Amino acid sequence: MMNIMDALGLSIPVVQGGMGNIPTGRFAALISEQGGVGTVSCGTLAPIEAEQQFKEARRLTDRTLAVNVPISVNAAPEDMIRLAARYNMDVITLSAGNPAPYIPEIRALGMKVNVIVGTVSQAKKVAGMDVDIITCEGYEAAGINASTEATTMTLIPQVKKAIDKPLIAAGGIGDGRGMLAAMALGADLVQLGTRLVATREHPAHHHYKAKIIEADESSTKIYGRSVGRRRRLLENEYSESLRKEEERGISLGTYKENTDEEKHLLGAVEGDMHNGFINGGQISGLIDELPGVAELFSAFRSEFNDSLSNIKKL
Ligand SMILES: Cc1cc2nc3c(=O)[nH]c(=O)nc-3n(C[C@H](O)[C@H](O)[C@H](O)COP(=O)(O)O)c2cc1C
Repeated sequence: MMNIMDALGLSIPVVQGGMGNIPTGRFAALISEQGGVGTVSCGTLAPIEAEQQFKEARRLTDRTLAVNVPISVNAAPEDMIRLAARYNMDVITLSAGNPAPYIPEIRALGMKVNVIVGTVSQAKKVAGMDVDIITCEGYEAAGINASTEATTMTLIPQVKKAIDKPLIAAGGIGDGRGMLAAMALGADLVQLGTRLVATREHPAHHHYKAKIIEADESSTKIYGRSVGRRRRLLENEYSESLRKEEERGISLGTYKENTDEEKHLLGAVEGDMHNGFINGGQISGLIDELPGVAELFSAFRSEFNDSLSNIKKL
């Protein structure tokens, strides 16, 4: 099996997760310049909007870049894939839908295929396809969660046992110790969401970053279970109103309206905590400062090495 750090030219085993319509071109380039995998996020962007982000990212780095295409969310996944190839993106990360129809074209365009799964059975199914990397995301994570509600701690070793592909662990990783733990369980790389939102350079609104810093381990809640969906939100005034509304009973249509990208941008980028939601993982409780990305990665390296040497052999 290929060494994925070498194959992607990384100096730290960290991948930035996709982030809806938050404009991530510049931020993705920064992550890549710091030795990780920056991910330009397509969300529900139109091709012309996504292209601006691809262009910006490629202008700022020639290192490894990924593009997150959420299949059932974006209206034109094929266009996103073709545009990504035009800007020499290296990896297409498919989420939120059946990846099979898109894989041949990604391959033909010379890019690597990474697929996000949330269960062991999905991982097994995807491993049978022509994919390079599988990302497995646990229930701790910010954003959309799988229906089995299995945690990263339990999923990663089970997926590792079931598949023979490079594996990225996502959900609940907030420092170098978490990175070490995920790698001890079998992950080759780790994907970060919440931890990267709470950095100086991330384009999220400072109200969002402040919510992460104020959070403890109980400050995120799942919304949507009653309609068979799961999205982990950091509590704010809007999520409180959603919770009350769900208790009274909502339809799937209302759930979708309440959590559409417009409400996400209102919360995450405009900082409107009354009318918009903010995704947040359970690891928010660990995060209490807003470092720059270079400083964060340097801390990850020392925490990883320190905890590795502090662990006693049995
Ligand atoms: C603001 C935000 C938006 C997200 N949007 C997406 C998305 O569009 N596509 C996706 O696959 N995952 C999305 N996620 C999930 C992340 O990519 C990542 O896998 C997750 O945050 C990892 O868990 P953590 O927050 O515990 O680190 C989002 C997460 C955040 C924080």
